Amino acid sequence: MSGNGGAATAEGGAAVTVNGAPLLEIKGVSKFFGSVIALKDVSAFVRAGEVTCLLGDNGAGKSTLIKVLAGVHRPSEGEYLFDGSPMDFSSPRDALDHGIATVYQDLAMIPLMAVWRNFFLGAEPTKGAGRFDIDFAKKTTVEELAKMGIDIRDPDQPVGTLSGGERQSVAIARAVYFGAKVLILDEPTAALGVKQAGVVLKYILQARNRGIGVIFITHNPHHAYPVGDHFVILRRGQVYGDYAKDELPLEQLVRMMAGGADLDTLHHELEQASRDPDSVS
Ligand SMILES: Nc1ncnc2c1ncn2[C@@H]1O[C@H](COP(=O)(O)OP(=O)(O)OP(=O)(O)O)[C@@H](O)[C@H]1O
Ligand SMILES: [Mg+2]
Repeated sequence: MSGNGGAATAEGGAAVTVNGAPLLEIKGVSKFFGSVIALKDVSAFVRAGEVTCLLGDNGAGKSTLIKVLAGVHRPSEGEYLFDGSPMDFSSPRDALDHGIATVYQDLAMIPLMAVWRNFFLGAEPTKGAGRFDIDFAKKTTVEELAKMGIDIRDPDQPVGTLSGGERQSVAIARAVYFGAKVLILDEPTAALGVKQAGVVLKYILQARNRGIGVIFITHNPHHAYPVGDHFVILRRGQVYGDYAKDELPLEQLVRMMAGGADLDTLHHELEQASRDPDSVS
C-alpha cells in the first residue's frame, strides 16, 4: 500500500498473514474531472472483518474515492480489485450486486413510511401472485434489527420518528441483511450528538464482527479511533498516510486531522486579518 504507514502491507508481512488478503483493493487510482484532479495515484485496501476509516479534510477526495468504489465513477487511471479479481463496475447497482453497499448521508429512506417498508424498499418480498409479503417483511425487519442489537418497539413506526442514530442503524442492518460484503458509510456520525454517534459506532462494530469490510468516512478522529482497525488519510486527492491502529497513536491522528502546519498558517492569516481586515483577499 502506498502512503507513509506500510506495516499492514503485503510487503510488511505479519499483519497480512494474521488478517488475510484484502477483500477490496485499489492501485494507483486517479480521477480527473476535466482539469480538476480529485484523486491522484491512490492505493488502498479494505479487509473483511475490519473497519477501514477514511479521513481527510473538505475536498480531500473522500466522496470521490467511495464513488469510485461504489461504481458511481469509473477511475480515470489505475486498478480496482475485488476479491482478487479486476473489476469495472458499470453502475452502483452493479457494485451492489457484487456486495458493495453504500449508505449515503441522506440514507435514501422515506420518513413517513414504516420501518419495515423502508427496510425492504426496492427489494420487496412477494408471495402468491406477486403480492408484497407484509408479514414476512415485518417479522424479518424486527429479527434483523434484533440481530444487530437494535430493539425496535414497533415495525409500523414511521422511519421519520426514529432518532438519527437509529435511522443510520436501520440502514446498516438493511445492508447487512441484503448480503453486503463491503459496507461504505459516508459520514454516518456527522450530524449526531455524542450519544447517538455512540449508537452508530456500536453497529459499525457489529457489522465488522459479522465479517463485513466496513469503510467508515468521518472528519472526527474521536469517532474513528475507537472502532477503526486501519486508517487511510487523504489530503488533496492523495494518500497522506495509511496506518494500522497499532502504528498510530490517537494524538498523532488528531494532529494529522487538525492539519498541523496548515492550521498554523491559518492562525497566522486570521491574526493578520483581524488586525488589518483589508488584507483579506
Ligand atoms: N463531479 C465533479 N466535477 C468536478 N469536480 C469534482 C466533482 N466531484 C468532486 N470534485 C472535486 O474533487 C475534489 C474532491 O472532492 P470530494 O467531494 O471527493 O471531497 P471530500 O473529501 O468528500 O470533501 P467533503 O469532506 O467536503 O465532503 C474537490 O476539489 C471537488 O470540487
Ligand atoms: Mg464528501
